[in-house]
Amino acid sequence: MLKPKREKIINLLKDTELNRLVLVQGWVRTIRNSKKFSFIELNDGSTLNNIQIFVDHEIIRTELLKAISTGACIGVHGMLVASQGKNQSSEIQASTIEVYGLADPETYPLQKKGHSLEFLREIAHLRVRTNTFSAIFRLRHAMAFAIHQFFHDKGFFYIHTPIITGADTEGAGEMFLVTTLNLNSLPRDDKGNIDFKEDFFGKPTHLTVSGQLNAELAALGLSEVYTFGPTFRAEKSNTPRHLAEFWMIEPEMAFYDLEDNMNLAEELLKYLTQYALNYNLNDLKFLNDHYDNQLLDRLHNVVNTTFVRLNYTDAIDILLNSGKNFEFPVAWGVDLQSEHERFLVEEHFEKPVILTNYPKDIKAFYMKMNDDEKTVRAMDVLFPKIGEIIGGSQREEDYSKLLKRIRELNLPEEEYWWYLDTRKFGTAPHSGFGLGFERLMLFITGMTNVRDVIPFPRTTKNAEF
Ligand code: 4AD
Ligand code: MG
Repeated sequence: MLKPKREKIINLLKDTELNRLVLVQGWVRTIRNSKKFSFIELNDGSTLNNIQIFVDHEIIRTELLKAISTGACIGVHGMLVASQGKNQSSEIQASTIEVYGLADPETYPLQKKGHSLEFLREIAHLRVRTNTFSAIFRLRHAMAFAIHQFFHDKGFFYIHTPIITGADTEGAGEMFLVTTLNLNSLPRDDKGNIDFKEDFFGKPTHLTVSGQLNAELAALGLSEVYTFGPTFRAEKSNTPRHLAEFWMIEPEMAFYDLEDNMNLAEELLKYLTQYALNYNLNDLKFLNDHYDNQLLDRLHNVVNTTFVRLNYTDAIDILLNSGKNFEFPVAWGVDLQSEHERFLVEEHFEKPVILTNYPKDIKAFYMKMNDDEKTVRAMDVLFPKIGEIIGGSQREEDYSKLLKRIRELNLPEEEYWWYLDTRKFGTAPHSGFGLGFERLMLFITGMTNVRDVIPFPRTTKNAEF
């Protein structure tokens, strides 16, 4: 006999071809037993919706049914029929049920509904079986797919930048060391320093904090590229917006100035938001109803509004005149905190803001200097409920200005020789930015903690699962 082909619940629920034999496999959300019949709500992750399985006790042994409880994994053969109930169009009348794995109701952590997000974080190995997390991870997939679609349609090339790197892109420390040296007996040089010549790469290496510098190399040949990969920061800031391992989308474009860069960032964020509304409305409605009833409004708002574009200096004036008592005091030259960013976006303008031309001292060495020699062509995109979602800039393409900046900041000049080379040979004006994927996912899902939008979060003191 032919092995029957498994069908996904998302397709069966839409199916108009009824009265045929089907096979579904998935996890039991609930089971209700009455005297003669049982009703199983089955979910396979393909959609938020469950399919109902109707079980006649004359066909299926009641001992088997008694063992099946919430969380069990089963396969069901049966007839796809029009449903009697009004909540779904079709259901399955079971002819055989195969149990792959039971879930003891005494110990199964998800036996009951309504757990807190904090509790679910502690069981990240099981939380994907909840409606909330399956919705979030389906949305995460959709956004990753849409990102590639967006850039592909524009003729950008996807560039894979290294994860192990010898360069410090942001020049800010906070990196994880990668080594094969024996930590119990480190090789030392004459001066007593650790001798990295003995290490795998013959020099100190780290996990990358950003693919930008490599993306710049690629853009100065392919014109328009993007990276989309994991990045790592050993910052101990234990906030709802920071992870030690997060994913970043970094487009880099030759011949783009700061304005072109802002236009691309705005277009990308609107495209992704519209994509979620078009293709994942079911999951969005669930999150809107259960967690944040402003979510859909905010998403529509971003699609339909023009982002504010504002100089850092003007933003400081607005904050100083706001009459607000901020925890972190405001003055020209300070880095903005999320309370400042959110005041601008949520209270003052009530829409996304792109802040530009920050003081050079609070931004990375590679940003293009303005004529005032005090500010650089930086741009941060600030979003409601999130604060900074994108950080980017026009890059310094002038060899001597870039070298001067590297020296001023005491960065190891010799390690950036290849980066400087691009400014020596056929340099070009260019720009780019980094979109934090988990910050984007916070916005799209309405969740408030980045730990809830990545399957297995890495934060300080937390690398379980
Ligand atoms: O502003 P950042 O540090 O910019 C860069 O890394 C540039 N090299 C990007 C570029 O121009 N190609 O980081 C970019 C974005 C932030 O706006 C934020 O959304 C996210 O990355 N981000 C984090 N997300 C989660 N956890 C962290 N620890 C993050 N740090 C930055
Ligand atoms: Mg930033």
